[in-house]
Amino acid sequence: MFGKYVLALAVTLGLAAVVGGRGAADAAAPARPAVAGVYARSAASTPPQLGAAVNTVMLGSADPRYVRTLLAHYASVTPEYEMEMSQLEPARGRFDFAPADRIVTFAARHGLPVRGHTLVWDEMIPAWLTRSHPTRAQLIGILHRYISTVVSHYRGRVGEWDVVNEPLTRSGGLRQSLWERVIGPGYIALAFRFAHRADPHAALFVNDYGAEWRDAKERALHRLVAHLRAEHVPVSGVGFQAHLRLDAHPPQAELTGVLRSFAALGVRIEVTELDVDAAGSAPLSQRLAAEAAIYRAVAGACRAVRACSRVTTWGITDAASWLGASERGLPFDAGYRAKPAWRALRAGLTPPV
Ligand code: XIL
Repeated sequence: MFGKYVLALAVTLGLAAVVGGRGAADAAAPARPAVAGVYARSAASTPPQLGAAVNTVMLGSADPRYVRTLLAHYASVTPEYEMEMSQLEPARGRFDFAPADRIVTFAARHGLPVRGHTLVWDEMIPAWLTRSHPTRAQLIGILHRYISTVVSHYRGRVGEWDVVNEPLTRSGGLRQSLWERVIGPGYIALAFRFAHRADPHAALFVNDYGAEWRDAKERALHRLVAHLRAEHVPVSGVGFQAHLRLDAHPPQAELTGVLRSFAALGVRIEVTELDVDAAGSAPLSQRLAAEAAIYRAVAGACRAVRACSRVTTWGITDAASWLGASERGLPFDAGYRAKPAWRALRAGLTPPV
């Protein structure tokens, strides 16, 4: 299976050179693209940054607590859905940057770096594209135009991108997305090359969930990233979504080992979408304590690996979580009160005195 991918990737890399315009003029380009925009903690003792996914509904709400909590405690933002393809290009060739621009403008006003999320995913694909049944060449052209348009629009204002989101299945195969089915496995390298060409200074990530444990998916992600890097594809970093549950979370030592093994590939690491589904029948106080222990373990694992530069929670308050309020997955409760998870997250990120 993986052999097929290697062959397809090699074939497509040549195509990428043509489609991406890497003609002879680029032949002199550095053999290994600089790992652009690499953010690094200045020292192992420097804590990882804390970021949050935000959305325009909450940023525009009359309740001042959302913005007050965000600005008081977080140092970067990720648009929760405003940069998905169905939001940015709702009709073929018609781009709507307004909602995402509101987040980027807000972030710039407050000096918050922005994580662009996400350029290529099998979810939130606009209907005009799924209905068009494109050929391989047509879809490569669409991919090139889309990535070039979006990354160019935000060049200089969005310093890093989740270029390919969730490329793998639970068992470590390639997810049969529209991109994989029509273009083949090489869509991944194409997407990175198109993004790098549009903004050579941006840090470019592959982002997935369920790779926080040592298992088939984690090994497949490691092989994928190692191969892309060996093929000089400009992958700067790996995002571990870390959507965890009380009955499904890695021990801190195991996650630390996973992050270290990816850091050894020379890439930056981020925890990109942390939340902990705390639903269950046990008393709430027990569930919140267990949730806090998981937050602390994830934060501690990131802090222990210098290449892990940021933990982003997938939201701020249980009042606005994709999980739903009753899952109580975030660090602040629906009334913006700090939960045990908040104190544990901070303790895990901050080195002992
Ligand atoms: C979710 C958002 O939270 C929702 O608001 C949106 O409707 C769908 O996407 N993995 C991802 C995120 O990479 O983009 C998803 O976010 C959560 C799972």
